[in-house]
Amino acid sequence: MTCHPTRNPFTHSETAAVGVAVEGLSKSFGHFEVLKNVTFSVKPGEIFVLMGPSGSGKSVLLKHIVGLERPTAGRVTVDGRDAAAESTREQVRMALVFQSGALFNSLSVYDNLALYPREHRIANEAAIREKVMRALQILSLEGTANKAPSELSGGMKKRVAIARGLVMEPQLMLYDEPTSELDPVMSATIAEIIATLKEEYHVTSIVVSHDRELALGIADRVGILMGGELVSLGTPAELRTPRDPRVAEFLNPKIDLKHPRFKKLET
Ligand SMILES: Nc1ncnc2c1ncn2[C@@H]1O[C@H](COP(=O)(O)OP(=O)(O)OP(=O)(O)O)[C@@H](O)[C@H]1O
Ligand SMILES: [Mg+2]
Repeated sequence: MTCHPTRNPFTHSETAAVGVAVEGLSKSFGHFEVLKNVTFSVKPGEIFVLMGPSGSGKSVLLKHIVGLERPTAGRVTVDGRDAAAESTREQVRMALVFQSGALFNSLSVYDNLALYPREHRIANEAAIREKVMRALQILSLEGTANKAPSELSGGMKKRVAIARGLVMEPQLMLYDEPTSELDPVMSATIAEIIATLKEEYHVTSIVVSHDRELALGIADRVGILMGGELVSLGTPAELRTPRDPRVAEFLNPKIDLKHPRFKKLET
């Protein structure tokens, strides 16, 4: 299932963009149904942004795509292969930038980034060093190589997590809230990185974000998840005039300080 052979940013080796298909995906934890019959597909080389209120199931959905969760019903495929199968992770290079960063605190920033290429014996130390330093430079993190993640700010940790994903030279990159905790300039840099990976290297990207500007600015298509259901699927242009009132309210919330829930705050 191949498409668009291209070169990756670090080694210039041939690689191919991959597609993702989510078909009738439902997921329950005990009696709690978190995802309800979700269906959509992401084309090779596409930027797909997933939005939705807190708790709507976005992170759980991403975890299914990288095989960290298994469906209760339905299925997820990456490049036509079952996402839940161990062999898929060996055959398709995918990187998930976790919402929390998920860095190893006992390792320096440098060693966090070098871990994957070392474990997979992708390159020798000199070549790994080049890739790691390049990724740190792209994210303006040159000075942090020898620091522990615990010594960094929240936004710096987020960027280290993205840099670690880049070093993996993914065909499929998934980001969970990549711009939360970042200032507007750094958020724009992240948007540029995601767009560049698409344009120049044909990386497929799935981005979970509350950042409306990011979504409307870089997405090819946007999906909106509410209460575990995919309630909207369309282009950014279509989202500017949403038909579903729930989607309109989510994207353009009104601030109402007279709402009864603020009563208790009044002195
Ligand atoms: N392993 C788990 N066991 C039980 N419930 C879980 C588990 N993981 C997630 N949930 C529940 O599933 C729901 C969706 O969680 P999820 O993390 O996907 O939300 P989200 O859309 O990513 O929210 P946010 O925008 O706050 O990150 C939540 O109610 C959460 O408590
Ligand atoms: Mg989440």
